[in-house]
Amino acid sequence: MPSPLHVAFVAGPEGPWRIERMATLAGEALPAAERLRLIEGPDAATVPADAWLLRGVTSNARYSNRREVDALAAKPNVLRRPAATRAALIPIRKTSAWWDLAQDERRAVLEEQSRHIAIGMEYMPAVARRLHHSRDLGEPFDFLTWFEYAPEHEAAFDEMVGRLRDTPEWRYVDREVDVRLSRD
Ligand code: HEM
Repeated sequence: MPSPLHVAFVAGPEGPWRIERMATLAGEALPAAERLRLIEGPDAATVPADAWLLRGVTSNARYSNRREVDALAAKPNVLRRPAATRAALIPIRKTSAWWDLAQDERRAVLEEQSRHIAIGMEYMPAVARRLHHSRDLGEPFDFLTWFEYAPEHEAAFDEMVGRLRDTPEWRYVDREVDVRLSRD
């Protein structure tokens, strides 16, 4: 996949992913919808809105250091595996206090204080992931995080999300909706 890759997550009556449940962890909820589709590439900018539509773009890493980049690259991270019939779309917005921090302070909260990358890597390759940035697109969320896994790894995924939400980094999250999906 070329980067940056523009992506639109479109919720409405159509799409390969069935929306099983939506939980609002912080801030405003998203409207209820039946299904979700992903539009990737140039069409992501023009696809019309349905029940809701969120746009993001893949980007370069901001916080990972060389050792982490190499460790991540050594773990398979493959989307659309046939066995991965479960997915989570977790849009996240962070507070102005977060964005007021300097780059090195944000890195310290994310990894030295919260072990975000170390925790997440424990769950690869069972969980495949892609991070989309939305803040600079003027979107309601700062990030659209996307994960795919097989049904037997759902409990592990829930455990990981719980561990992350317990960290100092999450004190800076002021909107978070956890959208869980399945496909046949
Ligand atoms: C497979 C498990 C996971 C791994 C390996 C992982 C890894 C990473 C890495 C390496 C980054 C930093 C990218 C950079 O350097 O800019 C990152 C950022 C991020 N991750 Fe995770 N992560 C995982 C799970 C999660 C989960 C479950 C969530 C949400 C509940 C999440 C939310 C985020 C967000 C919002 C960012 C952007 C942070 C920011 O730039 O302020 N991650 N993740």
